[in-house]
Amino acid sequence: MDYVIWSKMYSMNVPYIDNQHKKLFVHMNELYSVLKDNNAEGSIFQKLNDFIHYSELHFKDEEDILELIEYPQAKLRRHKRIHDNIIEQEYKLNDQLLKGDESGLYNLECFLNSWVIRHILVNDKEFQPYLAKYRLYKPKELQESTFFAHI
Ligand SMILES: [Fe+2]
Ligand SMILES: [Fe+2]
Repeated sequence: MDYVIWSKMYSMNVPYIDNQHKKLFVHMNELYSVLKDNNAEGSIFQKLNDFIHYSELHFKDEEDILELIEYPQAKLRRHKRIHDNIIEQEYKLNDQLLKGDESGLYNLECFLNSWVIRHILVNDKEFQPYLAKYRLYKPKELQESTFFAHI
């Protein structure tokens, strides 16, 4: 069963980024499954670790893209701080669970319920106009690059 479902409102109109966000949804759904369903396969720690590692990979990739499209430095720094804060929260939740803290599971569920909506719909959407502008004006020498073929 899927707990978070992808819809058009999450789209950044850039398949490269959308595909990574969709993969984050897959990791979140797997994590929800082990939280909600006793018969689900895998452990919470394993699924949480997969989710943390994929978040780190996606955030790094997204920051590289923002750097390359010359997203204003002040906005980029702010976005990076938000990413760092999310990763910090994820590790804190992992620690809480490892310590057997009873509020850990509840906190993890609250975190899952809020972060994608807040981050994709509010924070990531802030750079969407820059991606669209970049698509129109991207430098010629980068047009052939496979990486930028996705943007
Ligand atoms: Fe982001
Ligand atoms: Fe993102």
